[in-house]
Amino acid sequence: MATLNRPHALLLPFPAQGHVNPMMQLSTILSARSFYITFVNTEYIHDRMLKSGSTKSMADFRFETIPDGFPLEHSRTHNELSEVCKSMVDICPAHLEKVVDKLKGKSDVPPLTCIVYDGCMSWAQKTAIKLGVPGISFWTPSACGFYLYLSAPLLMEKGYIPLKDQSYLTNGYMEEEISCIPGMPLLRMKDVPSFYYDATNYIFEFLITQTQVGMSADLVLINTFDELEGPVMEALRDRLPVYSIGPLLEAEQKNGLSNSFASLWTEEKSCVQWLDDQEPGSVVYVCFGSVTVMSDQELEEFAWGLEGSKQPFLWVIRPDLVHGTSAKLPMEFVKKVKGRSFFVSWAPQLEVLCHPSVGGFLTHSGWNSTIESICAGVPMICWPFFAEQQINRTYVSQIWKIGIAMNDVVEKREVEEMVKRLMIGKEGEEMRRRIGEVRDASIRAVNKGGSSYNNLEKVLLKMEGKYR
Ligand code: UDX
Repeated sequence: MATLNRPHALLLPFPAQGHVNPMMQLSTILSARSFYITFVNTEYIHDRMLKSGSTKSMADFRFETIPDGFPLEHSRTHNELSEVCKSMVDICPAHLEKVVDKLKGKSDVPPLTCIVYDGCMSWAQKTAIKLGVPGISFWTPSACGFYLYLSAPLLMEKGYIPLKDQSYLTNGYMEEEISCIPGMPLLRMKDVPSFYYDATNYIFEFLITQTQVGMSADLVLINTFDELEGPVMEALRDRLPVYSIGPLLEAEQKNGLSNSFASLWTEEKSCVQWLDDQEPGSVVYVCFGSVTVMSDQELEEFAWGLEGSKQPFLWVIRPDLVHGTSAKLPMEFVKKVKGRSFFVSWAPQLEVLCHPSVGGFLTHSGWNSTIESICAGVPMICWPFFAEQQINRTYVSQIWKIGIAMNDVVEKREVEEMVKRLMIGKEGEEMRRRIGEVRDASIRAVNKGGSSYNNLEKVLLKMEGKYR
């Protein structure tokens, strides 16, 4: 198709690994469907993508950048999240408008037909309205996680959030059941997104504002599928024009595309060769995503639990995994697990999960990791860190029954016992069978005539501007 006749989508991810990856997957699918793609990163994220080499496979995308208000060398770890979000809300809207004006002034660029923004960047809806194109909000967490974000006003009205003080984290209150949210069984205070505990943290206000502003989006997209999160999707459909279009990973493959990842770290592929030498289904893959931080003591408890399990394992230890210092494992532990362990600072995760040697995943329950594990048919042990990961743990372990929930306090004995349950017990076999069924359902969802396939077709019409 001649460039100027192509529909043109501008995609705006939130600047974090777990948000950039699914936005990139959606962009790749749109590109295969003839869309001209403008991918707008913050300068910081774009710099990291260039350094890790992950933009190479997206040569036909147009990349634009906007500042987040901080110099490139400024730290943007979990602790700085509030100040980065605040700064972005203040300065990014004006910069996005400049990008849109620049695109309008280019004779070789087709007119924009839609803006797809991360749900946490719902301020971009205003730009879409001004431009007269559909504003499409893409929430990258699970539908159950998004539903809880959206339910903040109700949870506040009922007095559940924010916590009255920090003692509520440990005084038994977190076990309290919540029954006021339709379509959501088994909810307890500890499943509520951690950002909603503390109203003095800017993230509390930020998320409530972005979710409520996002209710005016022309469409809302979620990287899930109805066969997995049907009841929650139904409850959401009562309130929003929401579409489940996932798993985007499977949709990419169905379109004959290789899976796209916008890694901010350089992948250490050597671990795949190590996996080649292991027994089928024997390896535990241990990875806590891109944001999780833990204490030295938690790291050690995980280490000794893995040692005690006697299973081989591949462990991703990001340089910033431990609070305020670089992660160091006890020498004695390293000696003991020599020969049945492999450590990397960043793995090609999907390739690892799909490797025949991998039989289980010890994860922080980020939504991308969860959906990737489902697509690979690998059951999980869930140790959530923050955001909506707690509710993902509950759905994985109690509703879908494709994994085990770990307690928040890490103890080596529990780690050891859970790894054994997952890798060698009957219970693990049963979870493996069930996750295989869920994986098959995810493939049906993206195949022609499937739920996500049909939803994506409807969404594409809107994105192409045919209903304008
Ligand atoms: C989080 C979660 O998505 C979510 O709970 C919350 O909304 C904020 O962001 P993150 O902690 O990074 O993101 O977890 P996850 O959603 O699992 O995304 C991590 C991504 O990085 C996955 O796509 C995973 O494949 C990739 N990854 C991780 C690698 O490619 N290699 C690694 O070594 C580790």
